[in-house]
Amino acid sequence: MMPSTIYKLSFLAALAAVFLVASPAHGAETLSCRLVEEVGVPRTLQQTPVLLQFTDSTSLTTDYPETVEPGTLVFYVSDPSGQLLSSEFTYCELTYHLPQEVELNWVRSLTREKRSPPSLGKSWYSLSAKSDKDEKSVSAVLGPRGDQKDHLAVSLAVYSTSALVNAVLGKPLSLSCGMWRGQQSRFAVEWRHRALGNGKVLYAYDGWQDKVEEELPGYRMNFSSLHKEGDVSLSLEKVDVKHQGTFLCTAYLPYVRAQRDIQLQVTAKPQISLLPARLFARPGEELTLSCEISHFHPLEISVDFLVQLPGESQSSLLPGTSLSPHGHNQDGTYSITAFQRITASHDLHGARYSCRVNHASAANGMSRIQTLQIAGVSGSSLEDYMYLFLTALFLYGFLSYVHRTAVSFFRTPKEANDRKSKPE
Ligand SMILES: *[C@@H]1O[C@H](CO)[C@@H](O)[C@H](O)[C@H]1NC(C)=O
Repeated sequence: MMPSTIYKLSFLAALAAVFLVASPAHGAETLSCRLVEEVGVPRTLQQTPVLLQFTDSTSLTTDYPETVEPGTLVFYVSDPSGQLLSSEFTYCELTYHLPQEVELNWVRSLTREKRSPPSLGKSWYSLSAKSDKDEKSVSAVLGPRGDQKDHLAVSLAVYSTSALVNAVLGKPLSLSCGMWRGQQSRFAVEWRHRALGNGKVLYAYDGWQDKVEEELPGYRMNFSSLHKEGDVSLSLEKVDVKHQGTFLCTAYLPYVRAQRDIQLQVTAKPQISLLPARLFARPGEELTLSCEISHFHPLEISVDFLVQLPGESQSSLLPGTSLSPHGHNQDGTYSITAFQRITASHDLHGARYSCRVNHASAANGMSRIQTLQIAGVSGSSLEDYMYLFLTALFLYGFLSYVHRTAVSFFRTPKEANDRKSKPE
């Protein structure tokens, strides 16, 4: 055999291997879902397992997936949006989608001609898929493709990079939301906010007429990236405690809509001070340590007092910490004070007392430390000598100033003139 032939053959073999590795993609190119519907009287929820087998948009016949549990529906889905095929999705749910006109100012124009296509009479589905850690999430509308009931195509998808956002109070924020709408130029986008049962529209844009219908102050959308890349992210000028809640990003095409929700938690890092600022006591004296924790959000917080005794390397938890009721600040944040009573004694000289705070705003916790000084133990500390030295220095400066002032005050004008005329 010619070496070049061997070369060619091995190349072909390698190619075949690549194909073999790539094609059991039957297993990989599926998404396990469940169809949730209300059935019977009285209505009960019925769940049916569904396997979505992804196909390319041109082929209408496909192999039946290799392993399918009995009782599982198989849908052949073409997904030109490319959003549904992700190994990250651990949750997927399908529901029936009822195509309909929407009577909202920013959506009405999409169906003005009232020419509803016959495909609307077939089965449509809403799909919602999420990843485990609430990172990637997508909602899509699946419509009929061809005449077979089990062949579907994605007609609209709305997706977000995170379903759960921690936002820092006072900072600007962009809430990520993307939209895929194929070639459809009739679309609308809307952002709503929902908290404690109250909902309101923050932003509404009729993309077909290029018209902003609702726009609350402090919210922005970037229309250049919206039209170019389908990026419908919402920018918040400044995160406020009232933003806490759910943001809903909704995209509308004629008769259908898809919605993605993003949970927003507003966090504010507390300021902490441990008082008294200079921890000094006589043996036997009772002291109260106060740990003032202010301007934090959310309210859940834990506060501990710890002591590291002289000569020990570990801190230990102090029992009997008490907490003040929490106070509300004007900006929606909270403040609280924790108290710890201690009784000074000789062997506590040099003990390090710390107030440790655990809160959503700081992954590793925060703490403040003070060292206890006991009067009469091991003489004056270096700090005390510094104090004395500074006091002496100040007294010296002050006295010499007084002396000079007194001298010039009692001096006669003549003497002063003499001094001036003397060469220095
Ligand atoms: C809008 O998005 C485009 C990218 O599509 C970017 O270049 C531009 O800076 C953005 N404008 C603003 C105001 O953020």
